[in-house]
Amino acid sequence: MWRLCAMLLLGVELGGATLPDLECPEECECHYFRINWVTDCSESNLTEIPHEGLSQNVYILNMNSNNVTDVQPFPEDIKLRRLQLADNLLTGLKRQSFAGLAYLLDADLSGNLITHVDPDAFRDSPGFITLELQENPLEPVDGPFLSSRSLMYLDLSDCHLTRLSTQFFTLSTSLNKLDLSGNPLGSIEEGIFDPLTSLEYLQLNRCNLTHVADTAFRNVTNLKTLELSENYLTIVQWTVVLGNLKLLDSLDLRKSALNNLPGNAFANNSWLRTLVLAENELRDLDVATTLGQNLLQLDTLDLSNCHLKGPLSEDAFANATKLRTLILSGNYLSALDLSVALAPLTRLHKLSLRNCGLTRLPPNTFHRLTALEELDISKNPLNDVFTGILSPLETLQMLDMSYSNLSHISRDTFSKMTHLQRLVLSGNRLTDLESGLFQNLTQLRTLELNDCGLSHPPDEDVFSTDIYEDFQELHLAGNPLIITELEPLLPRQLSNVQLLDMSNCNLRTLPKDAFMKTPKITTLKLTENHIGPGSLDLEFIKQLTHLETLDLSNNNLSHLSPNIFSNNPNITSLKLTGNPWICDCSIYELWEWASVTKGNLTILVGSRTSPEDISTGSGKRKKGLFCHYESNRLPSPKTPSQTRAKDLHASRTWAKYLKESGCVSNRGPKAERYIDARNTGDGVTFYLEDSPPTWFVVAACMSLLVFLAMVFGTCMALFLKKGKKKNIARYSASAIDVECVQSVIEVEVTPKRRRNQKVV
Ligand SMILES: *[C@@H]1O[C@H](CO)[C@@H](O)[C@H](O)[C@H]1NC(C)=O
Ligand SMILES: *[C@@H]1O[C@H](CO)[C@@H](O)[C@H](O)[C@H]1NC(C)=O
Ligand SMILES: *[C@@H]1O[C@H](CO)[C@@H](O)[C@H](O)[C@H]1NC(C)=O
Ligand SMILES: *[C@@H]1O[C@H](CO)[C@@H](O)[C@H](O)[C@H]1NC(C)=O
Ligand SMILES: *[C@@H]1O[C@H](CO)[C@@H](O)[C@H](O)[C@H]1NC(C)=O
Ligand SMILES: *[C@@H]1O[C@H](CO)[C@@H](O)[C@H](O)[C@H]1NC(C)=O
Ligand SMILES: *[C@@H]1O[C@H](CO)[C@@H](O)[C@H](O)[C@H]1NC(C)=O
Ligand SMILES: *[C@@H]1O[C@H](CO)[C@@H](O)[C@H](O)[C@H]1NC(C)=O
Ligand SMILES: *[C@@H]1O[C@H](CO)[C@@H](O)[C@H](O)[C@H]1NC(C)=O
Ligand SMILES: *[C@@H]1O[C@H](CO)[C@@H](O)[C@H](O)[C@H]1NC(C)=O
Ligand SMILES: *[C@@H]1O[C@H](CO)[C@@H](O)[C@H](O)[C@H]1NC(C)=O
Repeated sequence: MWRLCAMLLLGVELGGATLPDLECPEECECHYFRINWVTDCSESNLTEIPHEGLSQNVYILNMNSNNVTDVQPFPEDIKLRRLQLADNLLTGLKRQSFAGLAYLLDADLSGNLITHVDPDAFRDSPGFITLELQENPLEPVDGPFLSSRSLMYLDLSDCHLTRLSTQFFTLSTSLNKLDLSGNPLGSIEEGIFDPLTSLEYLQLNRCNLTHVADTAFRNVTNLKTLELSENYLTIVQWTVVLGNLKLLDSLDLRKSALNNLPGNAFANNSWLRTLVLAENELRDLDVATTLGQNLLQLDTLDLSNCHLKGPLSEDAFANATKLRTLILSGNYLSALDLSVALAPLTRLHKLSLRNCGLTRLPPNTFHRLTALEELDISKNPLNDVFTGILSPLETLQMLDMSYSNLSHISRDTFSKMTHLQRLVLSGNRLTDLESGLFQNLTQLRTLELNDCGLSHPPDEDVFSTDIYEDFQELHLAGNPLIITELEPLLPRQLSNVQLLDMSNCNLRTLPKDAFMKTPKITTLKLTENHIGPGSLDLEFIKQLTHLETLDLSNNNLSHLSPNIFSNNPNITSLKLTGNPWICDCSIYELWEWASVTKGNLTILVGSRTSPEDISTGSGKRKKGLFCHYESNRLPSPKTPSQTRAKDLHASRTWAKYLKESGCVSNRGPKAERYIDARNTGDGVTFYLEDSPPTWFVVAACMSLLVFLAMVFGTCMALFLKKGKKKNIARYSASAIDVECVQSVIEVEVTPKRRRNQKVV
């Protein structure tokens, strides 16, 4: 009984619903994500999609990073929703490959060798929404690229496209978001985008564009975001080109060889809120006219690295009264100019003067910026004496002075900034912090001292004597710390610290009592150190009873017992990737601890396909958890396989190792024992644990049944209601039960609809 229940519990991590295990190909690892059956065959050197053992109800098929060259037609009646084939060796998309995929919603085919796409490839998928094809060497297309009335998101970035015909988008007119970045298009001719009247997001970065037809965007009147960065748009008629984009909210023209912008450039874009003009030669930009006449709603303006030539006129920002964020970094402006030009920006909230060649700042630079909360003066060769300027900044909450060649900071520098919450001093050689330096910063929440050449965390004497009640984060990454056994790691005043970052600090271990005075830490980052090889090097974790997130990625761990976390009941994220794990039953123990004891395998980051792995665009090449067989313990394959490469490699994902390991539960009724030959040099350790009481098992199973009954009840009700709507007709009756259970659970779990999650 317990065994059955445990199996069910293992299968489902969310919502408490019980779902049966479905079929799973030998080469893959399968599990439920929400209530959706995921078949994960990624990173397995497969040369084709395994059909044997593939469940008809597979929701997500993850074939990323294999060696698939061709997609054979899928079995009939398969209900595949999401197909992931990124980073394989496909050369083309044929109609028959995707025939019959009536339920397909998303396909990720990025990073292949695809040169040709049959416009009818996804004809059989009436609900097809997302197609990712980025990083494929597509050949030029003359007719319509793809025929799909439902397609909303299309990523064609970095696809070697040199031109687009006016036919290209004529059969995919529902597009909402289109990315064409990184194609050497050279110019945008009239008519290409005319069919895309629903388009809201258009990305044309890095397209070698020199020409944009005056009428190029005349019909995409719903456009909200337009990105044209890294092109050569010196002679574009902006007033005309953007004339019909009345709803434009965000425009990115970074690094696009602009050298002049007429005063009426954005005449019809009066709702523009974000404008990026960075990295252009806007020497003679008439800021006042360009901004003053139309951009009255502007909230964020980025003019970094624009070679702006002073003096900025007094009324440069006179009418930009709504401006809250101004980025002027990389312009060599004199402090005097600045103080005049900035004066009207009484609403300014955030100002960046990063890398502006400022050596000193006169006392009144910021005196009228009464709303200023965030100031970035990093990467300026500031000298060590500039206390004068800082006195008016009593409202300041964030100050960034990183990478400013400071070697010594005098103790008066921050004495007036009593409201400061975040102070960034990273990248200065502050080997010696003056005593009393932070003594007036009693509201400090975050202190960043990364890459400061520190050999030990800050001492007690740089703070005032009291506890810093609000203190939350201390960043010490990249310092060559030398930790001594004798004293607690952090000073007494920081005993409320919640996040401590000691990544890349050359640590091999930490003393057992390191966190005795700072038990409130919830997030500890120790990535990129040399901690290992096993539990003995992590004893310090035991004092962190509030710990929620622990990052031990890229260290030197080869085995770990979950017992080490017995004092950390609230742990929700454990990052262990990038360690030289050995394939043995300790992997099983950790896995079982996460999935059964903690009831949530997501805790083990990288253990399986996670929401991030299946989000569009990013995170695909992320490495999961791997282990290595010791050479004398390589298993022999159970059945000969056609799809897997003949030679067996010593490296496995944790999930696949568990499938073939034969490690057994130490929780079953017989309390089976298993061998753990890690910590003991010569011997063998046995783990024995009592099984949970029978009443608990029965109660757990009963509550699952009740929940299921409720789900199906709701389903019937929903089905009766939904049946009236037209679109249900698209799906066959047999699918309705699955569909319905999904909608019930998805509504419960994520308030957003699936489609909404994809935007942006
Ligand atoms: C499982 O853990 C993840 C990450 O910590 C969290 O987002 C999710 O809500 C958890 N699920 C359950 C059922 O607790
Ligand atoms: C895949 O093959 C490569 C080389 O052929 C090998 O280095 C790698 O470990 C293999 N990966 C797996 C998961 O078998
Ligand atoms: C970019 O366009 C120029 C002509 O405008 C051309 O000479 C160059 O080869 C193009 N670059 C690429 C990468 O296509
Ligand atoms: C595009 O807009 C123009 C007028 O601005 C109109 O004449 C033309 O029919 C539109 N084209 C399409 C394909 O909608
Ligand atoms: C700006 O919008 C007006 C109508 O609101 C329109 O008449 C005019 O042609 C537009 N300007 C440009 C350059 O398209
Ligand atoms: C600022 O706005 C006023 C009225 O809206 C206008 O008269 C003035 O010309 C504008 N200033 C600049 C520099 O555009
Ligand atoms: C950095 O400061 C040192 C003195 O502390 C000075 O010699 C050096 O020129 C400064 N470097 C820059 C780039 O300003
Ligand atoms: C800040 O510290 C100095 C001593 O360095 C002290 O004299 C001064 O009163 C403090 N200022 C405030 C506002 O607390
Ligand atoms: C990693 O651990 C192994 C023992 O498992 C040890 O031999 C090796 O020196 C360690 N490497 C580093 C960089 O600390
Ligand atoms: C664990 O989390 C719960 C809920 O967030 C909280 O009430 C409890 O105090 C936490 N326990 C510890 C030891 O931090
Ligand atoms: C799969 O392809 C990768 C790169 O294309 C190659 O390094 C690897 O050896 C291939 N593996 C097999 C088993 O063919």
